[in-house]
Amino acid sequence: MLIKQVKNSDIKESQVTDEAVFNNRRQILKTMGFIGAGSLLSSTSSHAFNIFGSDDESQLFKTNALKFTQPAQYASSEKLTPEQKVISHNNFYEFGTSKSDPVANAQNFKVDPWSLQIDGLVEKPITFNYEDLFNKFELEERTYRLRCVEAWSMVVPWIGFTLASIIKQAKPLSSAKYVAFETLHDPSQMPGQKSRFTGGGIDYPYVEGLRLDEAMHPLTLMSVGLYGKTLPPQNGAPIRLVVPWKYGFKSIKSVVRIRLTDKKPPTTWNQLARNEYGFYANVNPEVDHPRWSQASERRITSGGLLTRNRIPTLKFNGYEEVAPLYAGLNLNKHY
Ligand code: MTE
Repeated sequence: MLIKQVKNSDIKESQVTDEAVFNNRRQILKTMGFIGAGSLLSSTSSHAFNIFGSDDESQLFKTNALKFTQPAQYASSEKLTPEQKVISHNNFYEFGTSKSDPVANAQNFKVDPWSLQIDGLVEKPITFNYEDLFNKFELEERTYRLRCVEAWSMVVPWIGFTLASIIKQAKPLSSAKYVAFETLHDPSQMPGQKSRFTGGGIDYPYVEGLRLDEAMHPLTLMSVGLYGKTLPPQNGAPIRLVVPWKYGFKSIKSVVRIRLTDKKPPTTWNQLARNEYGFYANVNPEVDHPRWSQASERRITSGGLLTRNRIPTLKFNGYEEVAPLYAGLNLNKHY
């Protein structure tokens, strides 16, 4: 993500994601396929790839195989983005501002114990621990397109459960209109949170928000895994939001709190640059970012990151079933 202070003339669209920066780090040397069955296994299967240029996998975060009950849904006709790209080309400013920082800096991130709190305007506030995230909900695989506001996209097989299923357990009060999300705040583990300089100017914790009806939509997912395994830290372990019809920055990672509220909650990128990143952030090829077009996107597949694989961007990222949520709303104004 790029912040407002950079002048129009400083950045061209082709530089939005810088392949040179990415390639400077030699993190991907090999992959080991592992799609598991069985519930959350105690085994140490990993999204094994070598980020340090050696064969020493002891330094890697260990992921576990996950069982899910549904086959892949939603985007199954599209080519998946290879796993090693999904887990090494990341935006997670708490671990650094370049695409390769999160994978390099997050391998010791502690996800267990974890505590996810649901509170605010609910009848029954609940706190889930790490194990609950994998045992209290029916896990399913959902293959979704992820469209970043920076005009690149991926196709990712997530594993998770609907946000609605978690919110229903807490029994929202009729006064609840919005849902506010918060990422873990722990500068001792997240170097980007140590100062505004290292963290891209963000005032941490990273926060996001949805209208309650958006949150309850069946497409809105809480993801606990991808490619058959628990999430690696760079993708938001142990639990992150995935809202496939919105720009990727809405999909907040490593969530510790979900709070129901009657007021529109502040959101991180909107606070940083109001005219560039709206609250709704619905994918919309008709509304350009002030500094680049949103009419098309680079689909990250098996080629290099500067692939010429440019495809048209679809309204709502192709998830047109959400259109009724915005009936009567001028989406050019409410971007
Ligand atoms: N969540 C937190 N806490 N911090 C971040 O920097 N980046 C967002 C989103 N969630 C971000 C975050 C952005 S800009 C995008 S595009 C997606 O995560 C990227 O998800 P991915 O790295 O799994 O592709």
